[in-house]
Amino acid sequence: MKTNSFISEQELTEQKQIASALSQEIRARNLKFFVETFGCQMNVRDSETIKGWLSLIGYQEAADKETADLILFNTCCVREHAEKRLMGNIGALKELKDANPGMIIGICGCMMQQQDMAKKLLKRFPHVSLIFGTNVLHRFPEMLRAVLNGERIAVTDRADDAIAEDLPKLRDNERSAFVNIMYGCDNYCSYCIVPYVRGHERSRKPEDIRNEIVSLTDSGITEITLLGQNVNSYGNDGSAGMRFADLLRYVSDVPGLKRIRFMSSHPKDLNEDVMQAIASLGNVCHHVHLPVQSGNNEILKRMNRRYTREHYLSIVSRLRELVPDIEFTTDIIVGFPGETEEAFSDTLSLVEEVGFAAAFTFAYSPRLGTVAARMEDQIPESVKKQRLKALNELQARKTVENNLKYIGHIGEVLVEGCDERGEETMLYGKYQNFKMVYFPGCKELLNRYVTVKVTKANKNSLLGEMIDA
Ligand code: 5AD
Ligand code: SF4
Repeated sequence: MKTNSFISEQELTEQKQIASALSQEIRARNLKFFVETFGCQMNVRDSETIKGWLSLIGYQEAADKETADLILFNTCCVREHAEKRLMGNIGALKELKDANPGMIIGICGCMMQQQDMAKKLLKRFPHVSLIFGTNVLHRFPEMLRAVLNGERIAVTDRADDAIAEDLPKLRDNERSAFVNIMYGCDNYCSYCIVPYVRGHERSRKPEDIRNEIVSLTDSGITEITLLGQNVNSYGNDGSAGMRFADLLRYVSDVPGLKRIRFMSSHPKDLNEDVMQAIASLGNVCHHVHLPVQSGNNEILKRMNRRYTREHYLSIVSRLRELVPDIEFTTDIIVGFPGETEEAFSDTLSLVEEVGFAAAFTFAYSPRLGTVAARMEDQIPESVKKQRLKALNELQARKTVENNLKYIGHIGEVLVEGCDERGEETMLYGKYQNFKMVYFPGCKELLNRYVTVKVTKANKNSLLGEMIDA
């Protein structure tokens, strides 16, 4: 059985002492931070930790970059265009730095774990002074102290060591929270850079996860999303003493926890036990984000996904049998190396057959160091673009079909936000199965549960009316 290592309490205490020592001056100078997050929920969660440290160090959150004294980009490297966008964004900050020479500009996140990237950026952008990767968040105070002392640093230690518990965090709402259950990924899908940058899979201890959830519900949070690159392989290495279905059962009775979400799921590990847990636990939401990537078996094999189209469809139908109101969302890549017209049409037919509530669709983007980037039969960009368009058109039609099913539907909605439209205030929120609905109401209902009936289905959204607040 594998055991994970953890950052020691003493090490964390030292960092907190550094934070506290810095905070007096930072507060006195009334300094502000601005953190911009790119990419997935993992990064959103990491940014909460960074913002937690910054608050502890005495910074306040700025409304925009222009009024900030510290700007940090938390980056993603899953697809190439993110990289190009980041370079533009950083270049544009030079003017702000010229106007405010004391300003600190930093870059962190997955992209910084790519080979030589940190060094390259420090060289290319003299106005950047703080660079760090995904596995050193527990050392943030020490890193910032060095930068405040005039150093320029890049800390990107390999992502395969210890788990850090009890880091500070600043969450941006009182309703819903992300909870990491594992870090890294061991799947090595042939197109994907994540295992190289986020390191191998490590599962947190069930007690630590449960304690975090208890403290969240104590503070009024009622909805949590368990996060991992592949939550279904939680504990597969034996290090946690339980598997994902057990974890769902273990946390589901936390008092005050109304909704448990989780993402992402990998079809190869979503087993009958997990399906039974979804069906039987009252607060596990009836939504599965189940990336399929392709509907063609040959392409799935080349992607190293380790399931077939038939297996994927069997999970969908089994879950629908157990949980009739379940909704599926997915991720799909078009134009993977070797994808023929016929292979692509298998993806279309799968999308037609499943009827996803929503799909996140991507043109394949070669990532340096991955197996797929070295494959020979790369697909021309123009073909990828055409296929993406065809797929998006099909999914748009399926979304409408899915929406139409909901007319007359009545259920509980957790209110997430409101749009003031002239006289009228429109609230929006999700049913437990992830369908979003808009309805008239008042701001006071934010973060509360209300019963909403769907009256109209638009192309992209549902409209409804409250029948009980
Ligand atoms: N090119 C295109 N899309 C990718 N994804 C991951 N790697 C790549 C890539 N190289 C997509 C997958 C994954 C989602 C998070 O991003 O669909 O599920
Ligand atoms: Fe990437 Fe595959 Fe791991 Fe998801 S499961 S993070 S796609 S390697």
